[in-house]
Amino acid sequence: MKKVLQLCSLCILLLVSTGYGMSNNEVLQMIEKKLFGKLSNGSEIFAYTLKNQNGMTAEIINYGAIVVSLTAPDRNGKFEDIVHGYDNIDSYVVDKNYFGCIVGRYGNRIGKGKFLLEGKVYQLGINNGENHLHGGETGFSKRVWSAEPIESETDPALKLTYVSKDGEEGYPGTVTITVVYTLTKNNELKIEYTGTTDKTTVFNPTHHSYFNLSGNMNTTILDHELEINADKTTPVDNELITTGKYADVANTPMDFRLPKKIGKDINADYEQLKFGLGYDHNWVINGYNKKVNRVASLYEAGSGRYMEVYSDQPGLQFYSGNFLNGSVAGKKGIKYQYRSALCLETQCFPDSPNKPQFPSAILKPGDVYKQTTIYKFSTK
Ligand code: GLA
Repeated sequence: MKKVLQLCSLCILLLVSTGYGMSNNEVLQMIEKKLFGKLSNGSEIFAYTLKNQNGMTAEIINYGAIVVSLTAPDRNGKFEDIVHGYDNIDSYVVDKNYFGCIVGRYGNRIGKGKFLLEGKVYQLGINNGENHLHGGETGFSKRVWSAEPIESETDPALKLTYVSKDGEEGYPGTVTITVVYTLTKNNELKIEYTGTTDKTTVFNPTHHSYFNLSGNMNTTILDHELEINADKTTPVDNELITTGKYADVANTPMDFRLPKKIGKDINADYEQLKFGLGYDHNWVINGYNKKVNRVASLYEAGSGRYMEVYSDQPGLQFYSGNFLNGSVAGKKGIKYQYRSALCLETQCFPDSPNKPQFPSAILKPGDVYKQTTIYKFSTK
């Protein structure tokens, strides 16, 4: 018995020293680390695979804090990858879809990339028509982050940190962001953000996974049933910049207060859908109170997979994959087609730095930005 124990301890040591972490509990929890690829400057990018006790996995790289793959069981217990992504680093470097990343410093668009803050006008990088999108050409999604696995018997996690220099993409202040991804024993992908700055700035990070709960990435999401706990949206103009107004969803194609198939109204003759080429809007979450509340759910009847979104943010961007057009080859060489996946991005409202009537995304020195967003998986 003693020998066996000694041998076991040796195994644990070996696993840890080769980059594996594990609990010494009955259930083996592991965070596996492997080389994902190298950037052109030689920087090594690693993939960390978190696995929970139910067999769910999340593979995350320290480039863009990107979730490369996420597996969840269907109603028969079959695990499949349910997010879009690539299997090599070069594709992520040139990617324009923001697959699986942490978007920042500011999620979504800032009109003309310009805003006034404490009496000074700031001009950000322009990377989307005449506007600034998702933190600019080289936002947080195109940066190398540092990564630290957090061992846990039940809830393996990965902490990622990035320091964004004063003036990066035109933003004031050096900002430090940490993101902790946890795969919980309740089959949740939990994302906890913190942010600090040394000068007043604007800060609105979000997560940009493209979900297709069927696990078959050759299908569209039009049959997925979506529910969003919101009575209003923030309408956009033809450049997808929020107008500053609020609009009721009642009696419009934007109404997801009860679960509805995404394909039901998506092609309706409705100006907002024409501007977005489909859904690409911010919903105003009912009862926003800075606490973590259930904001949305998504169901795919074929697989039975059900995803609930919890967040402490005032807004939710529902993007129905309207810019996917089969031109890029993703994992397994699959060419992701129009509306083959969707994003549910928890956020402060787009262009809030220019819309004083919207909740503020201003971050000041001494303040600590915090966000928690949870994607919870089950079956029905
Ligand atoms: C967000 C935006 C979309 C689009 C995608 C990336 O979700 O709302 O308009 O830019 O990102 O392609």
